Amino acid sequence: MAVFTKIKKKQLSLFLKSFNIKKLIKFKEVNQGTENSTFFINTENKKFVLTLFEQCEYNDLTFFIDLLKFLYSHCLPVALPLNDKNNIIIKKLSGKNALLFPKLYGIHPITPNIEQCSIIGKTLGRLHSISKNFKLKKQNLRDINWILLNYYKVISFLNKKDQNLMFNQIYLLKHLVKEKQLPQGILHGDLFRDNTLFYGNNLCGLIDFYNACTGDLIFDLAILINDWCSDKYGNIIEYKYKAILNNYIIERPFTKKELDIWPKMLRLTALRYWISRLLVINIFPVAHNLIPKEPKKYRDILVSRCNKKLPSLF
Ligand SMILES: Nc1ncnc2c1ncn2[C@@H]1O[C@H](COP(=O)(O)OP(=O)(O)OP(=O)(O)O)[C@@H](O)[C@H]1O
Ligand SMILES: [Mg+2]
Repeated sequence: MAVFTKIKKKQLSLFLKSFNIKKLIKFKEVNQGTENSTFFINTENKKFVLTLFEQCEYNDLTFFIDLLKFLYSHCLPVALPLNDKNNIIIKKLSGKNALLFPKLYGIHPITPNIEQCSIIGKTLGRLHSISKNFKLKKQNLRDINWILLNYYKVISFLNKKDQNLMFNQIYLLKHLVKEKQLPQGILHGDLFRDNTLFYGNNLCGLIDFYNACTGDLIFDLAILINDWCSDKYGNIIEYKYKAILNNYIIERPFTKKELDIWPKMLRLTALRYWISRLLVINIFPVAHNLIPKEPKKYRDILVSRCNKKLPSLF
C-alpha cells in the first residue's frame, strides 16, 4: 500500500471545489507507487489522479511542471497538472504539496510486446531529441557520483562474491565520472514499465517524472532497456532490445562515443538500482507496509551484462 498520507472525503471535496470540480463520487488510495501518496478520484463526469508529495521540494515541483508543459506542447502523452480557480497548480493538502491530474487511460505493460517496445523506444528517442530545446536544468542525483558516494553503505551486507562483483564493477566504471562528451538532455530517470500506460498497443501515458533531470541521454535509455528487456535471469530478450533500440535511433541516432560506452552504461544503471534497492532494504527504516523491490534482480542483470555479449545493434 503506497499511501503514506491519509485524506478524508470532506477535505477532498473542499479541495476539488477550489478547482470548480463539484460532485465527488468516490476516491481510492492507489496501491502502486513507492514515493508519493496517490489517489484515484471519480467525479460525476471526470476521473482524476491526486498526488501528495512526501519528499519533493517546491522548487523541484516547478521544474517537473515546466517539463510536463514542454513535453505536452510537443505532443508527448503526458498528463498536465490542473490550475485551480486562482491559477494555482501546486496546492497544499494534509500539509503536503499536492498536484491534481486528469486520469489517463491504460494499464502498465507487464510483459510488453514488440509493438509496445517499438513505441516506447521511439517515444523516448523523441523525448530526448526535443529536450535540447528545454532550457531548465536539474542535476542527475543518481549518476556515477551517487554510486561512488553510496555503495560503501551497502557493500558490507553482501556475501563475498557479490562484494567482489560490486567493487570490481565500480572500479571499472568510475572513470565515467570524467566522461564529458556524451550527448546531454532531459532524462525521465525512471522509465520502468510501471511508469507507462498502454491501451492495447497505444501509448496513452508517460507518468512519474519525479526523477527527471539533465544528464547523459544513454543513461536513461539503459534504465529502460534493463527493465523492459530482461528475462527472469537478467538476460536480454533480444527481440525487445532490438525493437526499442532500432526505434530509438530513428529519432536520435547514437554518436560514436555513445556506441563505445553503451555496454558500460547498461552495467552502470544496473548498479544504480542494485544499490538503491539495497539501501531501501538495509539502511532506510521501512516506514510503511510496502514490500521493498528485490535488489537481486538488478544484481542478476549486472552479472548478465558483464558476462553475455549484447545483441548486435543494427
Ligand atoms: N495521470 C495518471 N493517470 C492514470 N494513472 C496514474 C496517473 N498518475 C499516476 N497514476 C497511477 O498511480 C500509480 C502511482 O503513481 P506514480 O508512479 O506517480 O507514483 P510513485 O509513488 O512515484 O511511484 P514509483 O513506485 O514509480 O516511484 C501509477 O503506477 C499509476 O498506476
Ligand atoms: Mg511510478
